[in-house]
Amino acid sequence: MKKAVKITDGIFRLGSNIENGDFFEGMWPIPDGVSLNSYIVKGDKIALIDLVDDWDNAPSDLKEQLESIPVDPSEIDYLILNHLEPDHTGWLEDFLKAAPSVELVTNKKGAALIEGFYGITDNVKVIDSGDTIDLGQGKNLEFHNIPNVHWPETMITFEKNSGVLFSCDAFGSYGSIGDSVFDDEISEEEHNLFDVESLRYYANIVGSFSKFVLRAIDKLSDFDIKVIAPSHGIIWRDNPGEIIERYRKFASYLEGPAEEEITVIWGSMYGNTEKVLHSVIKGIRSEGVPVHVHKVPEVNVSWPLASAWKSKGLVFGMPTYEYKMFPPIAAVLNMFSLKHVQNKTVFRFGSYGWSGGAQKDFDAATADMKWDFIDPVEWKGKASEEVHQLAFERGAELARSIKNQ
Ligand SMILES: Cc1cc2nc3c(=O)[nH]c(=O)nc-3n(C[C@H](O)[C@H](O)[C@H](O)COP(=O)(O)O)c2cc1C
Ligand SMILES: [Fe+2]
Ligand SMILES: [Fe+2]
Repeated sequence: MKKAVKITDGIFRLGSNIENGDFFEGMWPIPDGVSLNSYIVKGDKIALIDLVDDWDNAPSDLKEQLESIPVDPSEIDYLILNHLEPDHTGWLEDFLKAAPSVELVTNKKGAALIEGFYGITDNVKVIDSGDTIDLGQGKNLEFHNIPNVHWPETMITFEKNSGVLFSCDAFGSYGSIGDSVFDDEISEEEHNLFDVESLRYYANIVGSFSKFVLRAIDKLSDFDIKVIAPSHGIIWRDNPGEIIERYRKFASYLEGPAEEEITVIWGSMYGNTEKVLHSVIKGIRSEGVPVHVHKVPEVNVSWPLASAWKSKGLVFGMPTYEYKMFPPIAAVLNMFSLKHVQNKTVFRFGSYGWSGGAQKDFDAATADMKWDFIDPVEWKGKASEEVHQLAFERGAELARSIKNQ
């Protein structure tokens, strides 16, 4: 893990796994870690593409892997900053002590962020979309802006002769990387992990920018891409089209249609709502539709967000609490609104004690979500057999309605 991995002559991957239990962006759990990938492109001149944060062992891993090539930081001519988010730049000030004459390469918006975050204005080379830097020995870097995938300044770097695309956050995934870094080297089990974790990463980090993701993918159709080298996750050299198509599919869920699946998110204080949950799930299953069930607040919103992103149908089960929704569900809806979980068919059910209030609050919170609703089911206290039957039928109705879309 501490050696740089050769991608092709003169191009190397440097990577570090964050496995210290921290949350990504301070809020997304990463039980299987996440990799921070940087790249070296070596011609007569040397470019380092993207940096790391001063996080876990990332800086020392990066230094060791540079030594393994070997490249001394002082020999690096250009540091290409595709994206200024601190996971790729946090270690910048310390790195510059070892590489005082390196030129920082970014676009105009990136330069403003370098100044804003690090107060650095010297040795910044501002490039525009389409500009190139010839490193010599057939290594020619071309830059293209892909704004808002993930921040406004985000760009990609393409080495034209080898066809290696340094795509930064685009085409990335959660999940640590072992000694095998390429798509053709990892086991089926690892592929499955990255399949799941690329969706969760997408929904958590990039989903709300899906229109920009599609725009970026269209732009890339003109490129002869042989390798996709993202800043998180494995490197795609055998089948780069797979991760591009996966991202295209994820982005398409914004406008729908998504998968013929239903995500159920529920919470209950005393079990009155929970009992009816089972009837709703039976109703959904009676129509043969896959269902993903998430209980809040036990589960971090990261998972329901990922499964809701790909599901056509959503179910919310929660009681009334202080004349409003059960607060953990309100928090989930707030995140769904922020992340643009749109164009879904939705059913809500829940218990109340006297006058209710959850449904009114739910209606207000979801007014702008572009959702279609099945009639809700609410009842006082403990549910009767009739309520269970109605809940079963509404579950089945939701399942049928997403099959017919
Ligand atoms: C802290 C708290 C606040 C509540 N606030 C309301 C309320 O504002 N209006 C209402 O009709 N019921 C209210 N209830 C009653 C619950 O909605 C009712 O007990 C319901 O059956 C709980 O469903 P559960 O068993 O799924 O938790 C409240 C209950 C608790 C414990
Ligand atoms: Fe980012
Ligand atoms: Fe990132």
